[in-house]
Amino acid sequence: MTRPECGPGDAVVDIGCGSGIPALALDEAVGTAGLVAATDPSPIFVAAVAENARLGLANLETVQASATRLPYAAAGSFDAATCHMGVMFFEDVAAGLGRIRAVLRSGGRAAFAAWGPDAENALFSSFWGVARPYLAAASPTEGGAGTAQTLAPDAPEPRRFAEPGSLSAALRTTGYVDVREETRQVDLVWPGTAETLRAFWLQISRIEEQVAAERREALLGDVLASLRRYAAGGTVCLPATVVLASGRA
Ligand SMILES: C[S@@+](CC[C@H](N)C(=O)[O-])C[C@H]1O[C@@H](n2cnc3c(N)ncnc32)[C@H](O)[C@@H]1O
Repeated sequence: MTRPECGPGDAVVDIGCGSGIPALALDEAVGTAGLVAATDPSPIFVAAVAENARLGLANLETVQASATRLPYAAAGSFDAATCHMGVMFFEDVAAGLGRIRAVLRSGGRAAFAAWGPDAENALFSSFWGVARPYLAAASPTEGGAGTAQTLAPDAPEPRRFAEPGSLSAALRTTGYVDVREETRQVDLVWPGTAETLRAFWLQISRIEEQVAAERREALLGDVLASLRRYAAGGTVCLPATVVLASGRA
């Protein structure tokens, strides 16, 4: 199992918390006697999670910091660490993993989730995979258009640890012990129609700005057709493979 094994009273640091996965759920697991430190280099995400915390999560603190610069002086500040879909984006993986290990108590577990291969990810294939032929220049971010030819071998990108064993190898190299890794098939569920999911993606990706005006309608049609293959009963259920790895400090 790759769970960080945290429970009531534990102190947990979540790295790359984004909008709060899993920091907000961890807050419930550790209870009022515990602490969750939700960390992210982006001030926008930190502010969003802080806003949620103000709505009733008294034991959650937010810290703006990258993995390499976690601002905790004492070794052993935390019982466990989590990082959900963030480790692929560390500029320096060894430094980030090493810093996380340093803030864990001896024996504390850090658990990481990363994307598996693109071919097994309907979210990526329905968006960037469909958009790739429409783009003049490849985008290396968000899992789609970047290719091995356009990226340095260890560049931050969503598929950085898609190769089985690569994330656990990075953990071992940086001194973690009792390292475990598994892949899992999960369903990413959008609680709405294919049309609303497409609209959301258009908003966050700003893909239309990157595609010639005369090709936009065709792109939108192709994205919708792909998403509709996964739509049923008012939701869109996109299968994906994820890599889960963990190790002890
Ligand atoms: C795909 S989001 C995942 C957010 C959240 N954990 C989730 O699962 O929804 C990746 C996150 O990693 C953060 N990130 C990027 N580089 C980072 C770094 N060097 N150290 C820590 N977090 C980083 C980003 O700011 C972003 O919030």
